[in-house]
Amino acid sequence: MYNNFEKVLISEEKLQSRVKELAKQISDDYAGKNPFFVCILKGSVFFTTDLLRYLSIPCQMEFMAVSSYGAGTKSSGEVKLIKDLNVPIEGKDVIIVEDIIDSGNTLSYLKRLLEQRNPTSVKICTLLDKPERRKVDLSADYVGFVIPDEFVVGYGLDYNEDYRQIPEICILKREVYEK
Ligand code: IMP
Ligand code: MG
Repeated sequence: MYNNFEKVLISEEKLQSRVKELAKQISDDYAGKNPFFVCILKGSVFFTTDLLRYLSIPCQMEFMAVSSYGAGTKSSGEVKLIKDLNVPIEGKDVIIVEDIIDSGNTLSYLKRLLEQRNPTSVKICTLLDKPERRKVDLSADYVGFVIPDEFVVGYGLDYNEDYRQIPEICILKREVYEK
């Protein structure tokens, strides 16, 4: 399995210390509030649960699922809502938690959707950002790591549903997906 990796891009230690820093920053920015975290299934599950454990403020968590990729490493550009929130977000301070921003299509769709529901605020927290690949004008409020244009897996990120459980972020060899 590990033969499919070019290299480790971000070690477990670096991930955890950066996630702690983000949690500190969010705890400071949202002091006195009770932010409502929207974890985007399935890629951001590992990131969200670590992030929330490091917070020093109260919070709530719900899940949404969208798909823009299908199988493989190329986005179709079309975003489909697969699972919506079960609760209203009116008057809430929403923080969308994503694993990675690539073209930006997924998050610009989600942000617009949630903003229509009268929340007090909507911010974006992403573990990884590939700015070189952006197709729409979108930026996150909290970014863990800016990474180069490589396909990465681990810590929740998958290639055809594999590798999510790897505790670090690894670059997948091109020959694995350029067959
Ligand atoms: P976007 O809509 O193009 O910004 O794509 C965002 C989604 O594409 C993410 O939530 C991931 O599921 C997936 N994605 C983009 N780049 C990668 C990658 O390098 N590895 C794994 N999944 C990725
Ligand atoms: Mg994915």
